[in-house]
Amino acid sequence: MNSLLEINNLHAYYGQSHILRGVNLNINQSEVVALLGRNGAGRSTCLKAIMGLVRAEGEIHFLGKLISRRPSFMIAQAGIAYVPEDREIFANLSVEQNLRLGIKPGKTKQISSEKKWQLDDVYSLFPILKERRHTLAGVLSGGEQQMLALARSLLGNPDLLLVDEPTEGLAPQIIKQLLDVFQTIKQSGVAILLVEQKLNLALQLADRFVILGHGQAVFEGSREDLQNNIELRKEWLEV
Ligand SMILES: Nc1ncnc2c1ncn2[C@@H]1O[C@H](COP(=O)(O)OP(=O)(O)OP(=O)(O)O)[C@@H](O)[C@H]1O
Ligand SMILES: [Mg+2]
Repeated sequence: MNSLLEINNLHAYYGQSHILRGVNLNINQSEVVALLGRNGAGRSTCLKAIMGLVRAEGEIHFLGKLISRRPSFMIAQAGIAYVPEDREIFANLSVEQNLRLGIKPGKTKQISSEKKWQLDDVYSLFPILKERRHTLAGVLSGGEQQMLALARSLLGNPDLLLVDEPTEGLAPQIIKQLLDVFQTIKQSGVAILLVEQKLNLALQLADRFVILGHGQAVFEGSREDLQNNIELRKEWLEV
């Protein structure tokens, strides 16, 4: 399998707090990896460190190139999209204006076999966004805002999508819709690093599972490995 992202000995800090303490993690092209762990384990910090948004040490290679000392905008330009927990949509712009901000002219995907996302594609994936395209993003429901954030990131045609707890606070009905959306994104060939608190949902989507604990990756394995290992889940996931 072709390697997409390689994280080596990643350390991250907030002031004096040493949060990540030597994380090693690989993601292959078109692979969905779930990043699991207890509250405060450092999952969000790991996504931020990949994007260059926290003070970090260690090496991160993306498609063979060292990105870990680049500024965030260059990491995004290299082909990594990030949907943070708070979604960061522009409340005072319309849905379509938000979407247009996600389009990166001239960016060609590194992996040529993949589909290229256009405005019409995201509108057919998220019909509700098409319906509401002239609505101010700030009045959308939480689920619609999550869809908008995902749609905008797809328009940048990333090779890797980092998503932080996309279903948090959403109704079961919306979560079901998002699950279908993630399946479609996955089928389009975009790799995903997914932080998801709901283990059942992660199990449905991900090809591989990584658990963070004590600032390190304490487990890496398949769905079967995770499902069969009750002790592991007790130790690192269940509260
Ligand atoms: N801006 C910050 N300043 C100082 N400490 C922080 C900051 N953000 C997070 N932390 C601390 O870093 C640790 C890891 O936080 P992180 O947000 O990465 O955890 P997480 O695994 O995403 O869990 P959750 O989302 O449930 O909080 C926690 O102890 C948290 O309190
Ligand atoms: Mg978090």
